[in-house]
Amino acid sequence: MARALRCSVCHAPFEAPGNGLRCGRGHSFDAAKQGYVNLLHAKVAAGTADTTEMVAARTAFLGSGFYAPLAGLLADSVPGEPDLVVDAGAGTGYYLARVLDRFAAATGLALDVSAAALRKAAKAHPRAGAIGWNLWEPWPVADATADVVLNVFAPRNAAEFHRVLCPDGVLLVAGPASGHLGELASTLGLLDAESGKEKRLGATLGSHFELVSRRETTHAAELTAEQVRHVVTMGPNAHHLHRDGLGERLAELTASMTGTLTVTTSFHVSAYRRSP
Ligand SMILES: C[S@@+](CC[C@H](N)C(=O)[O-])C[C@H]1O[C@@H](n2cnc3c(N)ncnc32)[C@H](O)[C@@H]1O
Ligand SMILES: [Zn+2]
Repeated sequence: MARALRCSVCHAPFEAPGNGLRCGRGHSFDAAKQGYVNLLHAKVAAGTADTTEMVAARTAFLGSGFYAPLAGLLADSVPGEPDLVVDAGAGTGYYLARVLDRFAAATGLALDVSAAALRKAAKAHPRAGAIGWNLWEPWPVADATADVVLNVFAPRNAAEFHRVLCPDGVLLVAGPASGHLGELASTLGLLDAESGKEKRLGATLGSHFELVSRRETTHAAELTAEQVRHVVTMGPNAHHLHRDGLGERLAELTASMTGTLTVTTSFHVSAYRRSP
């Protein structure tokens, strides 16, 4: 995995890694004690990175297994036997770890800007490393090294997806399909962050990628009040709890629940090949 990384200051390869990363020109980056290496050297806008609370909610919710069908669909969508899988906006590394579980010879690289997420991602799988990076900047990853790029509910930098993928590599973009969390969206008035994104996704990736397949998986999840709180607060809605009464509506809904609430989960995984 370290072989695919490039110094974020001068783009030179890193030398044999010790505790951290050091390039031939002497730029060095220490490993945090939680195991990830931060290659960032510029500040990132406030509100970009997932917070400790969001990551805690995400860890708890993903641990309940309700999104396991998406992890399975991602692994099913990987062709052949990959060497390097890069997860762009990996969060806790949950999906990367499930893909690595499927391919015993593969190593993984989790990129994220959130320190709280990186602490989890660094421990997500013995064959994965975690790097602090802003996906909107040119990535500290060598050209044509990744067999698979995963992008799950995370920012999409098409030019960098294209640059780091091997010529026959595959980009797997996952996100919500129609009806995802629909029962909560209507009751709580959740952000419809994804509406129109499908069309924009095609437009964003258009000149760099060709769509090969699009698969969906839909399930009914029986959520406890705590799980409802987690699924709402692990994503971008967390930034809006104190606005527009969302926090109050969430508290009312969970307080009124006597048992579980049936909620639809629905995901798509779109596989893309690099255009030449
Ligand atoms: C909705 S979460 C998804 C995380 C993970 N893929 C999952 O589905 O569990 C989005 C992730 O993207 C990260 N992120 C947002 N903007 C980013 C950026 N500009 N560069 C790197 N990571 C970013 C956040 O910190 C967060 O971990
Ligand atoms: Zn350097």
